[in-house]
Amino acid sequence: MSIIKDPGLAPEGARKINWVKRHMPVLRKLEAENSREQSFEGLKVAICLHLEAKTAYLAQVFARSGAEVAIAGSNPLSTQDAVAAALAEEGMNVFAVHGATEKKFKEHLRQVLKTEPDLIVDDGGDLVSIIHQEMPGLSKKIMGSAEETTTGLIRLRSMEKEGVLSFPAVAVNDAFCKHLFDNRHGTGQSVWDGIMRATNLVIAGKTVVVAGFGWCGKGVALRARGLGARVIVTEVDPVKALEAVMEGYEVRPLKEAAPLADLVITVAGVNRVVNREHYSYLKDGAMLANAGHFDVEIDKKDLYHYADSYTQAQPNVEEFILPGGKTLYLLAEGRLVNLAAADGHPAEIMDLSFALQFMALKYLKEKHKQLPFSLLSVPPEIDSEIARLKLQEMGVSIDTLMEEQKKYMESW
Ligand code: ADE
Repeated sequence: MSIIKDPGLAPEGARKINWVKRHMPVLRKLEAENSREQSFEGLKVAICLHLEAKTAYLAQVFARSGAEVAIAGSNPLSTQDAVAAALAEEGMNVFAVHGATEKKFKEHLRQVLKTEPDLIVDDGGDLVSIIHQEMPGLSKKIMGSAEETTTGLIRLRSMEKEGVLSFPAVAVNDAFCKHLFDNRHGTGQSVWDGIMRATNLVIAGKTVVVAGFGWCGKGVALRARGLGARVIVTEVDPVKALEAVMEGYEVRPLKEAAPLADLVITVAGVNRVVNREHYSYLKDGAMLANAGHFDVEIDKKDLYHYADSYTQAQPNVEEFILPGGKTLYLLAEGRLVNLAAADGHPAEIMDLSFALQFMALKYLKEKHKQLPFSLLSVPPEIDSEIARLKLQEMGVSIDTLMEEQKKYMESW
């Protein structure tokens, strides 16, 4: 049963899917091979991802490769109803609606799991977490899961450490073809896309504080600099902080950076990065945006509480008047700004991430009986093969080692 069956909306979604498909050549290649072989015939695949056009194409590739697919969004604000309707129109099980309440959102995740999947594509670890907390019996049937995000991997690592993980999980986020491109270049570009669409303001000349210098933070800072901003990085990890210093960024504690900031972007993967203390340091008119997976990085509950009043300044921009008259702006309700206020990462980037997701599930399907119930790396051959295919599609050729060089590399 699907949530959205709206033949009026579906054509718009179908057009969006067609557009991104044109820019996802690696996934198209996998579709061609696997639909011929019906590689997932007889298997059920559950997907929890941001339900926009690129994700919809991934779901179609699984379905055309023989899988029965059930899909939910991974954030109520990133679900695009037209795209969901297009999938429902094809007969897919779609459980998602834009702006769903937290309760409805969770209900949709449970509905996806009630289809009793064999394989899971997760984003943020929500499906895996629900299985372990509420439906432990389902674990026996599951061949494995593949995780898309840094945040999801943190949760899975905790589960592994506690010895409760009850099927193999593949850390797609840790593959080179994921974090080097999706986290850095995908987030780097799409976060600015979201901020610019929401605000329609210039970035050049602004002071931007990037809270967190992981792979996503690196991308956001890099593109901020390219847009002409003064960039200040905040970190808790000394190695990452040193890396930021060596890359030429100013590094300060958030308390010191806040009074200088025109815009603070959280990309830290932890809660309450920006909290009441910082609201008092921020200057009048400062804007706050989040690019981390969960909407916990900016303590918005505290902001609603602390503010004398708040109102919608324009779509995706809330205005808060604080005691004393200072104004702060929160973008996209503190949810992922690149997906709530824009369309997420560019298609060419998601081509890599989703090719990895597809190959990770194929690997789990073929090897699950030999795999331990732990967090596993994507086999390096899969990473290399996806990079090779992408280069081929881009018309870029590279050198190969001569036999003599191979021997040299193996010698000691
Ligand atoms: N589109 C689909 N999934 C996404 C993700 N995890 N990040 C950005 N854009 C996306």
